[in-house]
Amino acid sequence: MRHSRIAGVGGFLPPRVVTNDELAQRLDTSDAWIRERTGIAQRHVADPSQGSSDLALEASRRALDAARVDAAAIDLIIVATSTPDYIFPSSACLLQAKLGVKNCPAFDLQAVCSGFVYGLATADQFVRSGQAKCALVVGAEVFSRIMDWNDRGTCVLFGDGAGAVVLVAGDRPGIHSSVLRADGTQAGMLSVPGNVSGGKIIGSPYLQMNGPQVFKFAVKVLDEVGREALAAADATIDDVDWLIPHQANVRIIDATARKLGIPAHKVIVTVDLHGNTSAASVPLALDVAVRDGRIQPGHRVLLEGVGGGFTWGAVYLTM
Ligand code: ACO
Repeated sequence: MRHSRIAGVGGFLPPRVVTNDELAQRLDTSDAWIRERTGIAQRHVADPSQGSSDLALEASRRALDAARVDAAAIDLIIVATSTPDYIFPSSACLLQAKLGVKNCPAFDLQAVCSGFVYGLATADQFVRSGQAKCALVVGAEVFSRIMDWNDRGTCVLFGDGAGAVVLVAGDRPGIHSSVLRADGTQAGMLSVPGNVSGGKIIGSPYLQMNGPQVFKFAVKVLDEVGREALAAADATIDDVDWLIPHQANVRIIDATARKLGIPAHKVIVTVDLHGNTSAASVPLALDVAVRDGRIQPGHRVLLEGVGGGFTWGAVYLTM
């Protein structure tokens, strides 16, 4: 039977760091408020010259190096992003050209903060069906571009970055199970309700959300979908070596882990240093924990995403 497994992981954060204190110099907020309510201490912000495909390129190169795979071997590119370089062409096609890869399918996938989990589950289907042997799955975002930097309720939460994995075919898993869910009736809870029409922005180009509602919804569905993914693999909570939930807020992460019954020392947290990088948050956290040696080959990892749409999902895998 054909399976897919992660052969290499890479991450990239733009060098410019914005601390809470820097934000507090021009907004009615404080380092203490942001840390206490969110666990966030700082975030990275991309240079205006960098698009999400540029961040994706750096993360992809690092993932390919880690996998010891040449870019020419890639036969599928999925970029999960809600902040693409352009309306079109897709950031995935731009990334393909920057990597010097030709002909393979390349497309963007839009599931907001669940995007990487959606992308990984999609690539797994391509690999298991024999349509791809070596897929590049990237989460890349420049959420700094869709922040109203005068809105203290949202702009303190997000950051820019990219994370990537190389997913290859193999005869043992790899990915054991994936579960994807969505509920479009909850679209208004978290959105950027604007578009471009006739040369003008119609609606709002800035992120809007109902924070307390998002908080409750996220904890509920991350618990449910994590359990569903484990059940689909005939696994239990005790089988999980590491939990990597979407990095939105340390209180959401703590509450999710508590509900699932996973102890804090098995939970990877990067939101303190990265902020919420949306589709990039899960692969960036995976990259940090692989590189610092916590996640080792053979470890079983539960990845979870939740975000606008609303969308949510989980992938359970062996590294
Ligand atoms: N600094 C200081 N005060 C602030 C700030 C800030 N940055 N932001 C909001 N406040 C104020 C509010 O104006 C409000 O003041 P008021 O009582 O005078 O009206 C007060 O703090 C409390 O506001 P709440 O929104 O009730 O604060 P809460 O404790 O719920 O925390 C937060 C807000 C951090 C947004 C929380 O609701 C949350 O984390 N929600 C989840 C949202 C999230 O993580 N979104 C990320 C995207 S979603 C995703 O990725 C799944």
